Amino acid sequence: MTRLTTGMLEGIPADLVSYDEALKRGTGLGLFGIACNAAGVPKAKARRALLSTVAAVVPVTAGGGIIPGFSEAVREIIVHLGCRAFVTEKSDVGGLAEAVKNGADVVFMADDDLFAAFDLRRRRLVDNVNATAKGYVCALDALAGGLLGKAVLVIGAGRVGSACVRTLLERGSRPAVYDVVEAKARALSSECGITFEPDLKRALSRYSLIMEASGAPGVIEKGDVSPDTTVAAPGVPLGVSSQAVPLLKDRLIHDPLQIGVSVMLVMAACGRGEGQNIAERRT
Ligand SMILES: NC(=O)c1ccc[n+]([C@@H]2O[C@H](COP(=O)([O-])OP(=O)(O)OC[C@H]3O[C@@H](n4cnc5c(N)ncnc54)[C@H](O)[C@@H]3O)[C@@H](O)[C@H]2O)c1
Repeated sequence: MTRLTTGMLEGIPADLVSYDEALKRGTGLGLFGIACNAAGVPKAKARRALLSTVAAVVPVTAGGGIIPGFSEAVREIIVHLGCRAFVTEKSDVGGLAEAVKNGADVVFMADDDLFAAFDLRRRRLVDNVNATAKGYVCALDALAGGLLGKAVLVIGAGRVGSACVRTLLERGSRPAVYDVVEAKARALSSECGITFEPDLKRALSRYSLIMEASGAPGVIEKGDVSPDTTVAAPGVPLGVSSQAVPLLKDRLIHDPLQIGVSVMLVMAACGRGEGQNIAERRT
C-alpha cells in the first residue's frame, strides 16, 4: 500500500461537495449512494444509522507516524455523509480512551499496514481494503451500466486487487488479473478460478473495463485508451498517465480516500463489518 502524503489529502475537505457532485454526474451515484450500494444497505436505513452514530478518528504514531491532515480528511468525509465525528486530541491508546469516553460508536484508526473502522457497538471491524474494493466495484458497475457477465481486467493482485476480484465475482462479472509479479497473478487466478493475463499491453487492448489496483503510476497510457475504456482506479498514485486522463473524460473514477472511507462508515454504522456475532460468542 502506498503511504498517503499531506499533498494528496489537502484538497479533500474543500473539494468534497464538488467531488461528490462530479461522481453523481458520472455514475448516477454520489459517495452516499456508492457506500450504501457497496455495503448492501438501503439508503433510508443507512441515513437513520448515520444520524444515530458518533465516529471518532484517532491519530496513530506507529510506523511512519501521523500524516498531517489524514485524520481531519477522514473526519470531513464522515461529516459530509451526515454523521457526527471528531478527531481525538490524543493519539494512540490515549486517543482510543478519549474516543470511548466521549461516546464514539465507531473508531477509525490507521497505521502503515491497516486502516480500520471499529464498530464498538457490535465488536466488528471494517478493513479499508475491502471497503475500497466494494466501493470501486460498485462505481465501475454504475459507470458500465452493470457488470453481470462482463469481463473486467484487474491490474494488481495485491490486497486491493484480490478484494476487487472477489467482489467482482460476487457481482457476477468475469474478472481477469495481471500483476507485474507474475506469480502473484497466477496464484490469484488459480485460487479464484479466473483468467490470468500475462501481458499488460495486450490485455489493455482487449478489455474495456479496467480496475487499476497496482498503484504504479501511468500503467495505463494514451495508446491503451479506446472510446469504450472505463477505469475505476483505487491505486495511489493514479495508474493512468496524464495524457490518458483527458481521453477517459468521465469514464474514470479515482480518489485517494473518499470512496473507501464512505463505504467503511456505512458498513460500520450498519453492522456490516467482520467479526464474531455477539449472539454466537455467548453460546
Ligand atoms: N483509493 C483508496 O482509497 C485506496 C485504499 C486502499 C489502497 N489504495 C491503494 O491501492 C493500491 C494497492 O494497494 P494494496 O494494499 O493492494 O497494495 P499491494 O502492495 O498489496 O498490491 C499492489 C500490487 O500491485 C502490483 N504491481 C506493482 N506494480 C505493478 C505494475 N507496474 N503493474 C502491475 N502490477 C503491479 C504488486 O506486485 C502488488 O501485487 C496502492 O496504491 C494503495 O495505496 C487506495
